Amino acid sequence: MERRQFLSWVSVGMLASSLPMVLAACGTETTADEPSPEASPPEPDIDTTPREDGFQALATIEQVNAEPVVDKTNTAAYVMIFRHPDTADLVALNPMCTHQGCTVKLDPDAKNLPCPCHGSVFALDGSVTTGPAEKPLPVFEVKEEDGLVLVKVSA
Ligand code: FES
Repeated sequence: MERRQFLSWVSVGMLASSLPMVLAACGTETTADEPSPEASPPEPDIDTTPREDGFQALATIEQVNAEPVVDKTNTAAYVMIFRHPDTADLVALNPMCTHQGCTVKLDPDAKNLPCPCHGSVFALDGSVTTGPAEKPLPVFEVKEEDGLVLVKVSA
């Protein structure tokens, strides 16, 4: 067998052996219509326009029942909406820590809102339980109506 013929056979063999991997890779590729596994669920189409009474719809009850919702519709004040772990009442407050502006997280087991940056902790009514923050988180009026969570973001 000549060298050229040998190299040709080796090339064909390598191509044939890699074909199953190429086909497998193509088979798991998602299309633009399919959500990727990491994609978050689609946001429901909610009209967030403030109403005459000052309330605006920021989430569905279904969303808030599933997990805390942080809405950024209003750039002046983000709104975190969650169910109180004891009473199941709706709570809406600004989750931006009053120390230096990090976003607090709901800890449903400890029933508080710790800040990940410098250790401040807030009660579920927004009051400070542990510094360095000194001011409470602003709390908003919130109510349920027709499957939507309505929040009065302005003071
Ligand atoms: S920003 Fe929250 S404790 Fe400093």
